Amino acid sequence: MGRLSGKVAIITGAARGMGASHARLFVEQGARVVLTDLNVAGGEALAKELGDNAMFVAHDVTKPESWETVVAKAVAAYGTIDILVNNAGILGPMAPTAELDNDGYDLVCAVNQHSVFYGMKAVLPVMVKAARGSIVNISSIAGMAANYGFPSLAYVASKFAVRGMTKATAMEYGKHNIRVNSVHPGFIQTPMMVEATDEVGGEALAQIPLGRIAQPIEVSNVVLFLASDESSYVTGAEHLVDAGMLAH
Ligand SMILES: NC(=O)c1ccc[n+]([C@@H]2O[C@H](COP(=O)([O-])OP(=O)(O)OC[C@H]3O[C@@H](n4cnc5c(N)ncnc54)[C@H](O)[C@@H]3O)[C@@H](O)[C@H]2O)c1
Repeated sequence: MGRLSGKVAIITGAARGMGASHARLFVEQGARVVLTDLNVAGGEALAKELGDNAMFVAHDVTKPESWETVVAKAVAAYGTIDILVNNAGILGPMAPTAELDNDGYDLVCAVNQHSVFYGMKAVLPVMVKAARGSIVNISSIAGMAANYGFPSLAYVASKFAVRGMTKATAMEYGKHNIRVNSVHPGFIQTPMMVEATDEVGGEALAQIPLGRIAQPIEVSNVVLFLASDESSYVTGAEHLVDAGMLAH
């Protein structure tokens, strides 16, 4: 019996990186998973590989109407939604505040922050009806502190916001048996990180008590716990997966 047997999950940004890792683990643990992404080719290929318990829906998380389509397709295919993982995100332009262009700022906030509102708003009616649910919002260490070498006010603003939005919604929906938590990864080996930095070494590694970057599965294991009934008394909380970076 899998740790997510009988559950239905939506995972955004599931075509690659951590989202793909979460999707693989969720299916392995018995969930039926709706993978969503802008990247149609990547998302469809992964859903096919994962078999009968996975489907892909093309999705732009910044568009509320796109969320309506995802929720309608998930409910039509699998009957309900137990879990939402708001994972899609972008690093966006990295520039000091005075040089950050307005469009870049708006885009980062739309993808990383506004999407979390649209997503929670879209799935909550289904979860309230079922009187259960777990929402996992992916923030970052940049949602806890601003000094980790990424000079982008936009990224930090969006990830701090996700942390607060998580707590606000957890407070409101606890009475419906719906839990909402945020996850704060440190340095994780994904295409996003590889595209942003040629390699993480020297100074950056010295900031990490465990002395290494993580593989996506090391975050997926925490997301799995929060998605599952094993975390039944855990809500409104921040979960660092940062090898101790913020412990100083
Ligand atoms: N990699 C890290 O070190 C790290 C650290 C902290 C937090 N995070 C966060 O973890 C999450 C996943 O990051 P990752 O490293 O796997 O990134 P990634 O770039 O490898 O994957 C992100 C996925 O999101 C999708 N996406 C982007 N914009 C979208 C949109 N508008 N609608 C739908 N899908 C969209 C992309 O197509 C991609 O498949 C992000 O929220 C990121 O901010 C990453």
